[in-house]
Amino acid sequence: MEKGQDSNDRRAGEVRSAVEAATWAPSVHNTQPWLFSFGGDRISLRADGDRRLGVADPDGREMLISCGAALFTLRVAVRDLGYEPEVRVLPDPDRPHLLADLYLGARTRSRSDDNSRLFEQIRRRRTHRGAFKPEPVGDALLTLLRQEAQREGAMLRVLEDQYSRNAVAALTVAAENMHHLSPSYAGELARWAPSPGSTRQEGVPESAYPREAPPTDPHFPARDFARGHGWGTEPSILDWLEEPVAGVACTLSTKEDRPVDWLRAGQAMQRVLLRATQHGDVAAAFHTQALEVPGLRELIQTRFCAGDHPQMVLRLGTVGDKFETVRRPVEQVLTEES
Ligand SMILES: Cc1cc2nc3c(=O)[nH]c(=O)nc-3n(C[C@H](O)[C@H](O)[C@H](O)COP(=O)(O)O)c2cc1C
Repeated sequence: MEKGQDSNDRRAGEVRSAVEAATWAPSVHNTQPWLFSFGGDRISLRADGDRRLGVADPDGREMLISCGAALFTLRVAVRDLGYEPEVRVLPDPDRPHLLADLYLGARTRSRSDDNSRLFEQIRRRRTHRGAFKPEPVGDALLTLLRQEAQREGAMLRVLEDQYSRNAVAALTVAAENMHHLSPSYAGELARWAPSPGSTRQEGVPESAYPREAPPTDPHFPARDFARGHGWGTEPSILDWLEEPVAGVACTLSTKEDRPVDWLRAGQAMQRVLLRATQHGDVAAAFHTQALEVPGLRELIQTRFCAGDHPQMVLRLGTVGDKFETVRRPVEQVLTEES
């Protein structure tokens, strides 16, 4: 009896640490739109619909990409504990908010070094905003990252020529302007952009973006988290280089556009980001504004993704200092099933 209790306690501690790791996944506006529960040898992941961006993300596509990123992180963390997990995605059509059940499965005797390397990147990975360092992202790494996306059922495409890059950057400018015209969008952004000194552990704090960033060529505009208040961190040396480096502009897309594909895209994205972090501190800057405007998303689909559905627009590049980020404590997102 005592022994059984000990092993239950140990398992609860392990689940807690794996879920804690999963919460370090990226999420749109750092909404952290996930809830976890566990009972027996199962960890369940649910979307927290109250945290969906009702204006920017009415279908919950970005919410599910965020949850997919958390699911991939959970898979890595559980493997790092020595388990061989089995994942059932969207296991119950009557409960669409139940996104995945992860069964811990048997403990394997040896941990994989490759998985451990991914695990080590979970807390090191950060979203970048602004220009990159001049060190280019090598072709070998880009090939590896494309393969990593494919392993999760998504496609990472580099915008190879300057006209494609310029066009997608210009569509991002158009989307950013359209967002500025929408008071409801501005209100929603304000909710997730806490003012300096705030103790909130969600949203995008001023320590996560530069105060000023000179335009890169082409210029992919950032989300306006500061909203004219002059918030943001002091410009880093990178932002004052003579030629601010835009990095490698890419899209991440899927063949279909259903909730299961959004979860796939999120898992693929996080696999790519962790692998990139592992190789020479390559990070991503995201520019998903145009994907929130249906006509612009369609244009990116047909002209730049060969008909596949774009899920993310990002730039990859080398970073030095990293921005900061915040997370809610694991207790707020994890419950034990009775
Ligand atoms: C679906 C999705 C869309 C995102 N879009 C943007 C974006 O357009 N601009 C941006 O600066 N960050 C974007 N992000 C990054 C989040 O803001 C970031 O993950 C969050 O603030 C947490 O910070 P961290 O990634 O450094 O941990 C996006 C993330 C996700 C998952």
